[in-house]
Amino acid sequence: MEILELKGISKEYRSGRGTVKALSDINLAVKKGEFVSIMGPSGSGKSTLLNIIGCLDRPTAGEYFLDGMKVDRLSDDKLAEIRNRYIGFVFQKFHLLQGLDALGNVELPLIYRGIGSAERKRRAKEALDAVGLSDRMRHRPSELSGGEQQRVAIARALAQEPLLILADEPTGSLDSNTGRTIMELFQKLNAERGITVVMVTHDRDMAGYGRRIVRLLDGRIKEEEFIVKM
Ligand SMILES: Nc1ncnc2c1ncn2[C@@H]1O[C@H](COP(=O)(O)OP(=O)(O)OP(=O)(O)O)[C@@H](O)[C@H]1O
Ligand SMILES: [Mg+2]
Repeated sequence: MEILELKGISKEYRSGRGTVKALSDINLAVKKGEFVSIMGPSGSGKSTLLNIIGCLDRPTAGEYFLDGMKVDRLSDDKLAEIRNRYIGFVFQKFHLLQGLDALGNVELPLIYRGIGSAERKRRAKEALDAVGLSDRMRHRPSELSGGEQQRVAIARALAQEPLLILADEPTGSLDSNTGRTIMELFQKLNAERGITVVMVTHDRDMAGYGRRIVRLLDGRIKEEEFIVKM
């Protein structure tokens, strides 16, 4: 079963300085439970593609089906609803609120979803436990290492019980050892919970934690590589 299917997706950015064609005729299908890495040079359209997959932006042309729903022409409100329900985001810069501790950061999106306090605490604690941070719940971001902050960001995504985790350069701000810990965590969540992961990375070693690498060049899919695990 496909969780997402892009058919002939193109994206143009129009501004006073002209038009940039960021994506051209992208065809991509991802099955439930897959772990896909997207690679490609700077400016090749990786973030643009991830933003469209994440319903943060709409394509200029083409069709996008998420969990069987056609979402390429939905209103901003509908897209926000779908993001909330299906998608967890992890970014290079962790985007944690400095004034809140780890637990507070993980709980925050659940408040916006109208989930009651007891259930929120339960889910947030479970998610922090899943990323190995039970003993850091009361620490603020400034009292955590980079890898720990990224694990809080992953717990925040996880607590929303997403079908899909989208990560844009999740190890870009981390040293390579810490980066590997984060990749192992994604692998574990993917294998044990069946959460689909789509990740953008510059790093071939990190990309290799996925099962498939999609390479972009000038807004087009140049090639796909399937990783055989020993
Ligand atoms: N909001 C925007 N307005 C105009 N052009 C944009 C906008 N966002 C991206 N672009 C252009 O679209 C192209 C693709 O950008 P994108 O951010 O998807 O690249 P990327 O592969 O993620 O690069 P990087 O590895 O540097 O993050 C680039 O040429 C970029 O300049
Ligand atoms: Mg980018």
